Amino acid sequence: MKEAARKARAEGRIVGLVPTMGALHEGHLSLVRRAQLECSSVIVSIFVNPTQFGPQEDMAKYPRTWDEDLQKLEALGVDCIFAPEPAEVYPAGFRTYVNVEGLSERLEGRSRPGHFRGVSTVVLKLLEIAQPHFAYFGRKDAQQARIIQQMAVDLNLDSGIVVCPIVREADGLALSSRNAYLKPEERRGAAVLHRALEAARKEMAAGARDTLQLQAAMRRVLDAEPLASADYAEIVDAVTFETVTRVSRPCYALLAVFFGGTRLLDNMLITPQESGELQFEL
Ligand code: PAJ
Repeated sequence: MKEAARKARAEGRIVGLVPTMGALHEGHLSLVRRAQLECSSVIVSIFVNPTQFGPQEDMAKYPRTWDEDLQKLEALGVDCIFAPEPAEVYPAGFRTYVNVEGLSERLEGRSRPGHFRGVSTVVLKLLEIAQPHFAYFGRKDAQQARIIQQMAVDLNLDSGIVVCPIVREADGLALSSRNAYLKPEERRGAAVLHRALEAARKEMAAGARDTLQLQAAMRRVLDAEPLASADYAEIVDAVTFETVTRVSRPCYALLAVFFGGTRLLDNMLITPQESGELQFEL
């Protein structure tokens, strides 16, 4: 992979990398299409990364749809698929991990200790192997994208980190490989995540800035769905991911909600009008 990527760069190509864990859906494919717009050689990695799964999380159960994934990527005409084996990525004796402190312990990090250490480590390895000019991530996983951006700054990485919009189903549910686990009635109920985020956005539009008020609006919507059980429903600063009492700068409304054993994530960027246009890319 290193050799192929080096060759592409030597030929003057702009190399883009889209890291995934497979089970590809339109969310992943939107990243591939964006990469194809901006790059002349696109690599998609498919690797179900063991270090980002906790001991209680069943990595063996993570959906694997290799043949369909290949078909989808071939139809898009990607240049290269990189699908290493765990023992190649983590050979015996492996002992170096990256941890983006502060950003990694909150929210997803609190519910899934060690998760982001595994994510940062594997993403740094993928960036080192493929040496892309740009690497593409979804805002669906806003905290992950923010952590990777911070890692790229802190470690002087050469790859530009591009964060792309969330792709949703018609009823607002964010596409996710985990949606496949939902029973039909859970799938119907899962639209509640987006409705809860919309409720926060509407309160904002009506002038609310107090985070307790915005959180209460989200909770009211979530509580009305009997199959949903919220893990967290938070408003945080979009850069530091620290909780705020008032939304006076760009913030994320972030949700993690259980439907039975399936944990779904969603988020929305909420920006007070008075803070003007975003002056920087989040
Ligand atoms: P995975 O869950 O396969 O997601 C791969 C990429 O697709 C991530 O950047 C994710 O944010 C993006 N994505 C998923 N659903 C999306 C949606 N509905 N709209 C837009 N983008 C979406 O995230 C991972 O894998 C792993 O943690 C990884 C970064 C590959 C490291 O192992």
